[in-house]
Amino acid sequence: MERSEASSVTQGASEVGAGAKHGACDGFGGASCGAGQKPILATSCGSFEQLLRSPPMEIQGRNCVVTGGASGIGRALCRRFAADGARGVVVADRDGDGAAAVAEEIGAAAVAVTVDVAVESEVQDMVARAEAAFGDVDLIFSNAGIGTGGGVEVSDEGWQNIWEINVMSHIFAARAVLPKMIERGEGYIASTASAAGLLSQIGSAPYAVTKHAAVALAEWIAITHGNDGIRVSVLCPQAVRTAMTARGPGVAGVDGMMEAEEVADIVVRAIDQERFLILPHPQVQEYMRRKTADYDRWLNGMRRLRERFLAGA
Ligand SMILES: NC(=O)c1ccc[n+]([C@@H]2O[C@H](COP(=O)([O-])OP(=O)(O)OC[C@H]3O[C@@H](n4cnc5c(N)ncnc54)[C@H](O)[C@@H]3O)[C@@H](O)[C@H]2O)c1
Repeated sequence: MERSEASSVTQGASEVGAGAKHGACDGFGGASCGAGQKPILATSCGSFEQLLRSPPMEIQGRNCVVTGGASGIGRALCRRFAADGARGVVVADRDGDGAAAVAEEIGAAAVAVTVDVAVESEVQDMVARAEAAFGDVDLIFSNAGIGTGGGVEVSDEGWQNIWEINVMSHIFAARAVLPKMIERGEGYIASTASAAGLLSQIGSAPYAVTKHAAVALAEWIAITHGNDGIRVSVLCPQAVRTAMTARGPGVAGVDGMMEAEEVADIVVRAIDQERFLILPHPQVQEYMRRKTADYDRWLNGMRRLRERFLAGA
């Protein structure tokens, strides 16, 4: 986020690709595996059996559910999944007409579902309808989210509202698909958080907090269910040109606005490589490094950025 400290850095250095899923683990439960002395083909260490059970995720032939699919990043993802040969694309949104328009454009491989992702029964129903239309859900992209401004003075109702849409929705989505995915030994759970979930959001405490929570949940699922064959990605963009940024990108536009189609392109490549952290703006990786290297210096930089932003606003 700190422009003066920004330098272009490629994402590659610290990303974990498909070939490095086990880290120090040899994939066979041997001595180098964090899980200890598991025998060959044991399932608790991301074993050989696990690798056989869960080949890399390709969109081709998959049933993909996308929330927030009526607009912006979600719509671009729906279109891209369809173009990449998905068996089914479930365009889910509380804007039913918008979802229907996207599904109609895609054609027979898509259905529209009207859903409020903050209501668990509706999320369960969305998954049931996706299964009825196209069979097992292979990928759920929990993308719907909202923004808001303000700090700690935001009302409890305001905090609760954004908490339910930006955090509980991801919990409901995971709850709805995890049992069957674990049973099958494969499945992909992706979510849209934000660079604000790794750094912060100048001008919005509720957005910064809920997006951090979204990242934390994705990490937890990846850690806890990775060895069940569940793949997890979390998308953390800075500014993207959508309805959310229609009045301007705000401080998130410090590194420029990206088109939703570019983001979708980056997402499908990341899913193909089963990369956890998807950073369409590669600068974010460097900002994260600076934050963890010297938190106080990073906070100083963010305060300066805030001052500059307020002076220019
Ligand atoms: N646009 C950006 O600059 C940007 C940057 C970082 C992260 N994000 C995140 O990307 C995601 C998608 O946002 P976008 O930029 O495409 O915005 P958008 O407004 O174009 O799309 C969001 C969609 O989510 C739907 N939605 C909102 N609340 C919902 C609910 N309760 N139930 C069902 N659907 C609901 C809306 O109807 C809309 O179709 C959000 O999670 C957002 O926080 C956006």
